[in-house]
Amino acid sequence: MDVRQLYKEDQEYLACVEDILIHPVFRSMDGYIQHGKTTCREHCIQVSYMAYRICRENGWDYKAAARGGLLHDLFLYDWHAPVKERGHRLHGFTHPRTAAENAEKYFSITGKERQIILRHMWPLTPVPPATMAGMAVVWADKVCGFHETREGFWRKFADLFGRRTVF
Ligand SMILES: [Fe+2]
Ligand SMILES: [Fe+2]
Repeated sequence: MDVRQLYKEDQEYLACVEDILIHPVFRSMDGYIQHGKTTCREHCIQVSYMAYRICRENGWDYKAAARGGLLHDLFLYDWHAPVKERGHRLHGFTHPRTAAENAEKYFSITGKERQIILRHMWPLTPVPPATMAGMAVVWADKVCGFHETREGFWRKFADLFGRRTVF
């Protein structure tokens, strides 16, 4: 079984986030690529579930990690589009605020979850998360982002050299 599908079997996880997973705004993130061939929706689920598992293992606030992780990149635009089209620069610095505003607009979130979203780009943005749930989301975001980008890299490499799979 694909580890990225494990969340579907975890009833405790689903109970924390079901309202978000079924929401059309959350689902619309499948319309935007995050890294490689991974959509923003898939990326957010992976980050959320990894952070949730870390927190559950360690006795930290797993619900905040699951919900904050799921909404951390809810910026709702194609960040690969030219600056002219998306209307602003510095996506890396500005998208946490956009995601937090969208999360508040469409979902019921706590102050802790809002802070997890706002601070997930640390250390690129200067203020670190104040909670272990926030740190778990920061860590999961970096790990998932690295693997998603690398998958895309190897796929391009394989295409270039005419082989379906490399390694
Ligand atoms: Fe992000
Ligand atoms: Fe992310």
